Amino acid sequence: MNSLINSNINRNTIELLLQSAQNYIDQPLIKENNGTVVNLFYENSTRTDLSFQMAAQKLGLHTLKFNISHSSISKKESLIDTLQTIEALGVDIAVIRHTIDWPSELQNYNFNFSLINAGSGISEHPTQALLDALTIRQECRTLHNLNITIAGDIKHSRVARSNYNIFTKMGANVTFTGPDEFKPNDLIHVPWINIDDIIKETDVLIMLRIQHERHNDNFNINNYHTKYGLTKQRLANLKSNALIMHPGPINRGVEICTEAICDRRCKILNQVNNGVALRMAVLNWCLQRNSNLISM
Ligand code: CP
Repeated sequence: MNSLINSNINRNTIELLLQSAQNYIDQPLIKENNGTVVNLFYENSTRTDLSFQMAAQKLGLHTLKFNISHSSISKKESLIDTLQTIEALGVDIAVIRHTIDWPSELQNYNFNFSLINAGSGISEHPTQALLDALTIRQECRTLHNLNITIAGDIKHSRVARSNYNIFTKMGANVTFTGPDEFKPNDLIHVPWINIDDIIKETDVLIMLRIQHERHNDNFNINNYHTKYGLTKQRLANLKSNALIMHPGPINRGVEICTEAICDRRCKILNQVNNGVALRMAVLNWCLQRNSNLISM
């Protein structure tokens, strides 16, 4: 069975998922499918949780309601034991969001159902990166040779890591920018450039929220907007055909100004909209038990 655990997928699989998502957008006639999906969200979510639910419904899949605080996880049942229970119930796909990086014991565990990573710790958010790639491809036709700048709290961002992996495989040039405190220790080879020195050459600007919940100390956000955010001045310096993106949730006036959110170049709600089709493509891919599709 196919599972989507991280963004270490090959270019053919990326292309296949993006094309499949685009087909769901272009030809919204959906076949009925059999299967049951459960969303196990150990961390809060609006976009990912709802779009996976919506994607499953559009595919005709059954969705199981699972509220962590009302479940036996509150009685300290482990993730593995919870997943074995889900397996015994006969679920086909488990969509998991977790506060921690994807546990290695899960990676090696052979469940009889598909696993989809809906965001794990600071390390991975593969479906976000794929829907971002889909959004960019719709607007720019290709990611090849595009200058993509990812701005903000890179160190604590799973989106930045998955985006980097997917975008570079698609031939984009990725640059990071933000406060020095947010330089990642693991991606030191990626250019780190002051936002004012890169903004005029940027084709796609992805702003990130400060991930306070993943900081060990209180990061001082005084002057953050002026120093590192997408201000009105920086908005004026962006190319006329540049894209402004953000995985959400947004903090207006911190990483991004309201004028940028209202700007015609802003694609934040396109990202949300594309999330449904992209997750339909991923769910469908997971259900292709005996397909010749490239698995991970
Ligand atoms: N981008 C994203 O993962 O948003 P949610 O936390 O609302 O799912």
